[in-house]
Amino acid sequence: MSTESTGKPVYNVKNPYIARLKHMHDLTAPGAVKHTAHFEIDLTGSGLEYTPGDSLAVLPTNDPALVSDVLAALGFSGDESVVNPKGASVPIRQALFESFSITDIDNKLLKAVVEKTGGSSPVAALLAPEKKDNLKNYLWGREVIDVLLENPTAKFEPAEFIGLLKKLIIRLYSISSSQRAVGEAVHLTVATVKYESHGRARKGVCSTFLAERIDTSTPLPVFVNPGKGFRLPEPHEDIPVIMCGPGTGIAPFRAFLQERKATSAKGKAWLFFGETSEKTCYFYKDEFAAYLADGTLAKLDCAWSRDQAEKIYVQHKMLENSRQFWEWLEQGAIFYVCGDASRMALDVDKALHQIIEKEGGKSSEEAAAYVTELKNAKRYRRDVY
Ligand SMILES: Cc1cc2nc3c(=O)[nH]c(=O)nc-3n(C[C@H](O)[C@H](O)[C@H](O)COP(=O)(O)OP(=O)(O)OC[C@H]3O[C@@H](n4cnc5c(N)ncnc54)[C@H](O)[C@@H]3O)c2cc1C
Ligand SMILES: NC(=O)c1ccc[n+]([C@@H]2O[C@H](COP(=O)([O-])OP(=O)(O)OC[C@H]3O[C@@H](n4cnc5c(N)ncnc54)[C@H](OP(=O)(O)O)[C@@H]3O)[C@@H](O)[C@H]2O)c1
Repeated sequence: MSTESTGKPVYNVKNPYIARLKHMHDLTAPGAVKHTAHFEIDLTGSGLEYTPGDSLAVLPTNDPALVSDVLAALGFSGDESVVNPKGASVPIRQALFESFSITDIDNKLLKAVVEKTGGSSPVAALLAPEKKDNLKNYLWGREVIDVLLENPTAKFEPAEFIGLLKKLIIRLYSISSSQRAVGEAVHLTVATVKYESHGRARKGVCSTFLAERIDTSTPLPVFVNPGKGFRLPEPHEDIPVIMCGPGTGIAPFRAFLQERKATSAKGKAWLFFGETSEKTCYFYKDEFAAYLADGTLAKLDCAWSRDQAEKIYVQHKMLENSRQFWEWLEQGAIFYVCGDASRMALDVDKALHQIIEKEGGKSSEEAAAYVTELKNAKRYRRDVY
């Protein structure tokens, strides 16, 4: 084990800590439109330390059923010997299970298919630089298995095929616990990625590894990825915090609340949470109720998007409370946002501008300048993905 000069163990992508699952339970109830779960990973004896706002890198393995489908499409038994990224000879089944991505498609594979099919594959027309958008469209919802099944005349040697794959890589998860509250453990809040495309049921590699393919004996390679500036103010400082975390975006805020309770943080805290339905997707409901009761949380606003005909999102709750939101900002509050980058974070940003315009009596330019000031002062912090 490598150690820093402090004598503490250093875990990273080359030297992950091999942890074990301690406990998991569903956060979504039967009937929910999605599956999200809470994971507790044992770190006993690891010396691994983290701070609320950090994320945990997890190195998954692939779904053995998909490995078998890929081997069948290639006409391999799985026993053929190949060299893995560490230079060891292993059966190709093992290499596909633990070392290579069999979902993400590398351009090398597409080029090899084109060469082997004499240019007759539809992929041939997608590889020119000016066809970038067409290639992107082709790749959306497709995995390595699709390329193989759609191009059955392209034949590969085992070692050659391995050389055309990307390496299997870590996924990051916002840590949803504070070590002051949970000790030698780390908690995660993970949405299971499942969808259908091109006639096949698809499974996100790491989220379904965690949700469906591990138990308390499965080795879990992990390490901490420090959160860049996604940090609480010092507990003795009287700074209010506003946290906006719909869906799995709630994860770092559960960690923040545990930390603030454990440190008796002085400033007040306001949480916005959003999910599809109060009945089936109210993650950590009892914990938040307890925080409201003991004052760790001053205010909680939830947006249930599918419990009525029209969508209600976290930004609607912000706007409903615009006067108070503005007052907190003027009192020096830090505004944190975590979760979906593509839609939610943009709409929440718009709502922030609207609140500043309406309640601060500012023009849109002045509101934009106010937001820039917030960012410069590190009072508007986002961890979106
Ligand atoms: C800093 C950070 C923190 C994060 N924190 C969390 C967290 O706390 N909780 C959490 O659940 N996730 C979190 N994520 C996301 C997480 O890292 C993974 O991206 C997520 O779990 C999916 O990984 P996967 O291996 O299951 O899916 P992958 O195998 O990586 O598959 C995902 C890919 O599938 C494709 N895809 C997905 N849906 C569709 C569709 N409908 N149609 C076609 N293609 C589709 C997309 O290309 C997508 O990129 C975080 C990400 C970052 C960067
Ligand atoms: N890279 C990946 O593969 C991957 C994997 C997992 C998660 N993610 C990202 O993380 C996000 C979080 O997923 P999640 O399951 O935790 O929750 P989510 O999909 O973000 O949903 C949480 C809540 O946010 C609502 N919402 C949808 N659009 C919104 C908007 N524009 N503004 C505000 N709220 C909005 C949803 O409502 P409705 O659904 O009813 O509209 C739902 O009530 C995903 O959207 C995705 O972008 C990415």
